[in-house]
Amino acid sequence: MPKMTLTQIKAAKGQKKLVMITAYDALFARLLSESADILLVGDSLANSFGGHADTLAVGMEEMLYHTKAVCRGAPESFVVMDMPFGSYPDGEAALQNAVRVYRESSASAIKIEGGREKADLVRHLCQNGIAVMGHIGLLPQFVRAEGGFKIKGKEIGDVDRLIADAKAIEAAGAFAIVIEGVKAQAAKAITEAVSIPTIGIGAGADTDGQVLVWSDLLGLFEGFKPKFVRRYLEGAALVRENAARFAEDVQKGDFPSAQEQY
Ligand code: KIV
Repeated sequence: MPKMTLTQIKAAKGQKKLVMITAYDALFARLLSESADILLVGDSLANSFGGHADTLAVGMEEMLYHTKAVCRGAPESFVVMDMPFGSYPDGEAALQNAVRVYRESSASAIKIEGGREKADLVRHLCQNGIAVMGHIGLLPQFVRAEGGFKIKGKEIGDVDRLIADAKAIEAAGAFAIVIEGVKAQAAKAITEAVSIPTIGIGAGADTDGQVLVWSDLLGLFEGFKPKFVRRYLEGAALVRENAARFAEDVQKGDFPSAQEQY
């Protein structure tokens, strides 16, 4: 799939559903880029790749390492890098880290978690030439501060607050917003309230696009299966089955065959 430009991504609102898939390495970036409009180097790599319980363990060095790999594997794709926990405490630090992303990789944009409280920071980045994707609703980087992963949009006032978050991020210059872990009706209302595309995860069917973590989508991550995940492959079973076949062939002396030797 040819790389979508930022202008085309913004123009997709109401015209075409955007497909975003996470990728953490060159091999899968190349495979997934054939179907994805946007590849997200999510800090979810801490959980699904690094074996951590949440996303807080990864820093700039790890994120840059994986972003460079993804950009090498899918040079035509629109790649977004998640700014990791602690990398954007204020506008200046955020800008320095975002500049590193642009200098050291060919990523097209970065993603920042947060709503109204992050609007000035997002504005500072945008005014300095950084393309920013927002992220509102359930914010994985706040999991320890909030005492767990909490679905948003349930309480009275939640929808108004989320709409205010989305509008603030849009006014600050973000080109798109991820809405995570939000009641479907609330995500629909947010999507209708802004003129930039919303990309949902666990946010119902009425956002402008959908994102899934690749290892959930392919059924490779077995830790837990959130309600919103659809597994398009039972990848874990497939890997186990075929690794076992290899082990069996080695033990039987069937591998390598005469044709598989020099
Ligand atoms: O880190 C990630 O994979 C994300 C998605 C869940 C949107 O931020």
